[in-house]
Amino acid sequence: MSAPRILLFDSGMGGLTVAAAVARQMPDATLVYAADNAGFPYGAWREDALVTRIRLVMAQLIETAAPDVVVIACNTASTIALADLRAHSSVPFVGTVPAIKPAAAQTQSGIIGVLATPGTAKREYTHALIEKFASHCDVILHGAENLAAMTEATLRGEPLDLAKLRHEIAPVFVERGGKRTDVVVLGCTHYPLVAAEIGAVAPWPVTLIDPSAAIARRVADVADETPRGAGPGVEHGTVILTAKPDAGIADAYARLGFSQVKVLDLPV
Ligand code: DGL
Repeated sequence: MSAPRILLFDSGMGGLTVAAAVARQMPDATLVYAADNAGFPYGAWREDALVTRIRLVMAQLIETAAPDVVVIACNTASTIALADLRAHSSVPFVGTVPAIKPAAAQTQSGIIGVLATPGTAKREYTHALIEKFASHCDVILHGAENLAAMTEATLRGEPLDLAKLRHEIAPVFVERGGKRTDVVVLGCTHYPLVAAEIGAVAPWPVTLIDPSAAIARRVADVADETPRGAGPGVEHGTVILTAKPDAGIADAYARLGFSQVKVLDLPV
């Protein structure tokens, strides 16, 4: 079979953490990245409006990029829109949801932190994952208000305010009955981009779980099972945006492997 064309989608640059893992797992694949930068950040959207927005954007992206497989490299989108997307398209979708199951397998203390966006923290989907895989654990689920936007600013070259970062992550660090949080799930694809800084300001050392390698393995399996034939699309290394980027954003995408910018004008 020819190399697959994979479309990775996020609200912003967070999905690049998944794109990097997919590039390592599938070096021959044609990778196209898409970000709904006009709609960023997704964390604060109302659920019904977000599902409608993602359906609209995805229809345009599939038409433009003609992917064999789509990766929703965004927890905030996957936990609300995956079922809807699958119902509206025959292209296979791989989602990204908080890595609660591996966290429950790794914790020694039984106290797990889940650092997500406010949207993901509210989702029934996320609560069901906790119920299913970690009901025997003490799970501290926190929707960080500003962390995704702070991460984007860092990629554009602004310095990361470490005091603010400490404040964003603080709620997942708890001590109870002589035990404390020992595993923290990075439940937003932006957060691995600042994992080193999170580790540096954490009140004590914890294991940070970044699910991107596991997602990349899943993408490879799905691509193996999917016949090719999506037709002409855009070339490897293209980033498709929904609003014109400023120079800082375009440079950041180029540094991370996506230097051909294409804009589909899709205002919110
Ligand atoms: N990267 C996205 C996620 O994984 C969310 C960022 C946003 O709030 O748009 O949840």
